[in-house]
Amino acid sequence: MDKLIVEGGHKLRGTLNISGSKNASLPILAAALLTDEPVRISRVPDVSDTNYMLQILSQLGASVERSSGTVRIESPDGISSSASYDQVRKMRASICLLGPMMARMHRCTLPLPGGCVIGDRPVDLHVRAIQALGARVRVKGGNLLIDAPNGLIGTTVDMRGDSGPTVLGTDNLMMAAVLAKGTTVIESAAREPEVVDLADFLNKMGARIEGAGSRTITVHGVDKLHGCEHTVIPDRIEAGTFMVAAAMCSEEGLTLNRICRKHLKAIADLLVECGHSVEFNEEGDSVVVKPGAHPRSGKILTNPYPGYPTDMQAQMTALFAITPGISVVRDTIFPQRFMHCSELKRMGANIKVDNGTAIITGVEGLSAAPVMASDLRASAALVLAALAAEGTTEIHRLYHIDRGYEMLDEKLLSLGARVRRVLDTEAPDFES
Ligand code: EPU
Repeated sequence: MDKLIVEGGHKLRGTLNISGSKNASLPILAAALLTDEPVRISRVPDVSDTNYMLQILSQLGASVERSSGTVRIESPDGISSSASYDQVRKMRASICLLGPMMARMHRCTLPLPGGCVIGDRPVDLHVRAIQALGARVRVKGGNLLIDAPNGLIGTTVDMRGDSGPTVLGTDNLMMAAVLAKGTTVIESAAREPEVVDLADFLNKMGARIEGAGSRTITVHGVDKLHGCEHTVIPDRIEAGTFMVAAAMCSEEGLTLNRICRKHLKAIADLLVECGHSVEFNEEGDSVVVKPGAHPRSGKILTNPYPGYPTDMQAQMTALFAITPGISVVRDTIFPQRFMHCSELKRMGANIKVDNGTAIITGVEGLSAAPVMASDLRASAALVLAALAAEGTTEIHRLYHIDRGYEMLDEKLLSLGARVRRVLDTEAPDFES
């Protein structure tokens, strides 16, 4: 297990290339199972979540080659319809194998993902969707056993849940429907850019999907899909994290390249509201973010895209911790996603969390402390806080950050940060 040692107070400067999106890559990699022809996917970030997904595909019998950000996958006939608990338990997103496995083999055994630190994370909507297409679903020994002896048949499915649309649920239904008989209409679909990227990839494979990015997606089933090449969209959450880093820890600002302006609107608007400067180039593929001279507190209410992303509230909480005034963060999607707050408090932040809402009273500065990463975005918040804090912070359980940020330490070093990854031989015993 690694920890990150961060010497705070060094101003960041320079230019960075943003990696391909982790959350777009995961379902796209799973979708490679939909054809027996090779697919080639570029700008897949080298993070542990994409590596877990590639390991699962390879265990199922696909051949996987990876070289400098490009992945080639070929899934011959005869691949397994059963994924092992050992692989799947490492990553909740492995639920997105359900759609492609059912489309290709009409049956699958998939271990049920458990809850995680950011919430309960049910899969009822995924199950409801596949049942609507005619599959039978049983739960036995912790596994979802699903089969559709007569194949999948298109229909209209409303994907709305109590907390709004589901991203991977929409992905699963789209992937299941591409080879189904007839037409599937997905109502209350998630509109996230990652869903649109998956639809683009599937259409390149020969699928007939219309309306991705809107509330209603229509999928006309086809008989067969073929190989294709695709480049994954930029990671809007990695970009957002570095935009917050620029506001918190730079003087001259940071330039981020390989971004997509449209995907960053909610994140950029909030930074501007809070007094920081965000300037995109004309093409919308590069942005310069500079800290404002008079930063202001702000309010976040997380919402499905195009609203403010839940995956960016922890990082903004770190910024609010050192912004004068009172800021409020309410997460409607994952109301329990506030583990970072208690660690930020150990660094001197003034935060009260109650009932899915954090109330942050800005302090003048943070001070270094040993802290513990609890989930991916919480860890990013701790790194940002550590970069701004006085003194040297140790962030334990770095594996959380390695799930979704490609080469974070190298990227920070290139911007002038003083960070060091070391083996955590003295893992703290303040876990339980
Ligand atoms: N939900 C249900 N039933 C379901 C599925 C979801 O009630 O069957 C609820 C969830 O509990 C949550 C809401 O619906 O309250 C939305 O969850 P969603 O299904 O959209 O989450 P997801 O698809 O499992 C993806 C991202 C998450 C991101 C969420 C929300 C991937 C691999 N993961 O998860 O990313 O937070 O959408 O935008 O795409 C991260 O990258 O750190 C991360 C957690």
